[in-house]
Amino acid sequence: MSTPHIDAAAGAFADTVLLPGDPVRARHIATQLLQDAEQVSNVRDMPGFTGHWRGRRISVMGTGMGIPSCSLYATELVREYGVRRLVRVGTCGATGADVQLGDIVVALGASTDSRVNRLRFGGYDLAALASFDLVRSVADAAQRAGARVRIGNVFSTDLFHHPDPALFDLLERHGVLGVEMEAAGLYGAAAALGVEAIAVLAVSDHIRRGEAMTPQQRATGLDAMLRIVLDGVAA
Ligand code: HPA
Repeated sequence: MSTPHIDAAAGAFADTVLLPGDPVRARHIATQLLQDAEQVSNVRDMPGFTGHWRGRRISVMGTGMGIPSCSLYATELVREYGVRRLVRVGTCGATGADVQLGDIVVALGASTDSRVNRLRFGGYDLAALASFDLVRSVADAAQRAGARVRIGNVFSTDLFHHPDPALFDLLERHGVLGVEMEAAGLYGAAAALGVEAIAVLAVSDHIRRGEAMTPQQRATGLDAMLRIVLDGVAA
């Protein structure tokens, strides 16, 4: 069995798949956090693995960056491999004044400059939402771990190097917590496919204040967030 972008055997993925953009992070999650992880796919060097967390079968698959790349992996995982819970794990640049480096942002909803959800939704504006059950599970796990978690709107942009600095004023005025590049597309795909999705993001930089984590802080902060997400989805 295979799809254009995944060459795993039938049944090779768990019902819950963590989706980091970075393939190196996918391998790190599999080899350093999951138990007995086995690689199940590697088309274009984009690795997928299945292992266990606290006895529950969990998979992880890199998606690449941006809505088109994330959406195609999400779609093929659901349609061809029966995946039911799509869990993006990544980073975001903060726009909110009260958001700090290292905070965990849960994207309850995702606004966007992308047109993909209008393409999916007859030209109308889809409210791109996370699964309430997944948000509750991850928020509970974050509370148990004593982590600072912010739950609200994010903005999924098609342009990392955005040409309009006024965008970030606008986002801050509308209470948008952070900027990333996938959640709105993932939520639109999940809605169209009838499955659950969530995006959980470590704040790696603050766009308004020009702050950024060191590579060491990034790695440590991400691991703490990943453990919380795994506890949440395995609960
Ligand atoms: N913009 C878009 N995506 C991001 C950023 C950013 O500043 N930081 C982390 N992911």
